[in-house]
Amino acid sequence: MQISSDIKRQATYENLIQQSKAAELSLYNLAKTTEKLMRKANLHHHFFGDLTLYQTALHLALFALSLPYEYENKALLNKMLSENETRSILNLIEIRIAKRIPVAYITHETKYLGHSFYINEHVLVPRSIMNTRFQDFLGMATWENYRVLDLCTGSGCIGISLALFHSNIKVDLVDLSPEALKVADINIHKFNLENRVKTIQSDLFDNLAGQKYDLIISNPPYVSTKDYNRTPEEYKNEPKMALESGKDGLEIVHRMLAQAKNYLNPEGLLIAEVGYASAKLIKKKYKKIKFTWYPYRRPDGTTSWLAMDGIFLCRAGDL
Ligand SMILES: C[S@@+](CC[C@H](N)C(=O)[O-])C[C@H]1O[C@@H](n2cnc3c(N)ncnc32)[C@H](O)[C@@H]1O
Repeated sequence: MQISSDIKRQATYENLIQQSKAAELSLYNLAKTTEKLMRKANLHHHFFGDLTLYQTALHLALFALSLPYEYENKALLNKMLSENETRSILNLIEIRIAKRIPVAYITHETKYLGHSFYINEHVLVPRSIMNTRFQDFLGMATWENYRVLDLCTGSGCIGISLALFHSNIKVDLVDLSPEALKVADINIHKFNLENRVKTIQSDLFDNLAGQKYDLIISNPPYVSTKDYNRTPEEYKNEPKMALESGKDGLEIVHRMLAQAKNYLNPEGLLIAEVGYASAKLIKKKYKKIKFTWYPYRRPDGTTSWLAMDGIFLCRAGDL
């Protein structure tokens, strides 16, 4: 059965299938060949995790075969593939290439701060650049009622990670999308956090009347309509409402800055990721707010010499 409508790719797939029929195709060789196909197809994989293209191919192969994600395991790499195994792997590779579907949507799983989160196409693939600073942020909070709000939660990756770091806090995960909240609920259950973490459907603060938090943290949509329209196809497979936020990209952030104070304890903190382009606009527009800005930090803790502000922190009293 044909796997791809692309003639050249189909020929490469046929070749691999022939090798598997002759018991001459190893997992390693399949990953190397399909890595080349992905490179040729110009996939945008950089923003969807740390996997190289070779690891992406291997990852999909290991997923198809229900094998552990051990990229360096020689015994696995040397495994010879049957025709059926080869076909099932190539079908997934083709989905990644032809439909530009991010890997996490194919495997329904992604790692965030070392934890495995359930993911589907109703939530952004977790990649918030705030994650290397979560423990610092928790340490900066003045705790009054130990309540945290993860606004625009998607999969719940931010609020759940915070709850895993700090066993005293209670976290509300808020999103406008009911489908996203179903994913967040699955993740709450996955990490046994039902007693401390819950989901609330709300258009930002609309359904949170009377609630007060020590920390509001958010990775909201912050891409302008113009930028959204020119993003690579992979992003178009993510929910538009997770990325696009009006003409200047700040529709949601403007509302957040206007309302957050009413939902914070007097010493409460508001922290949000807004990206470099939006940071420039915010600095220009909100001259009176005392923000502390943070650049992106690599997982090893270093900051690039191109250190670009992308996360802000401000205190309730300064809003
Ligand atoms: C950039 S995604 C972030 C998801 C997750 N926090 C993460 O870092 O992976 C933004 C999320 O905001 C949600 N959202 C968009 N508009 C919203 C609104 N008005 N109120 C609440 N959530 C909203 C989207 O559904 C999406 O899940």
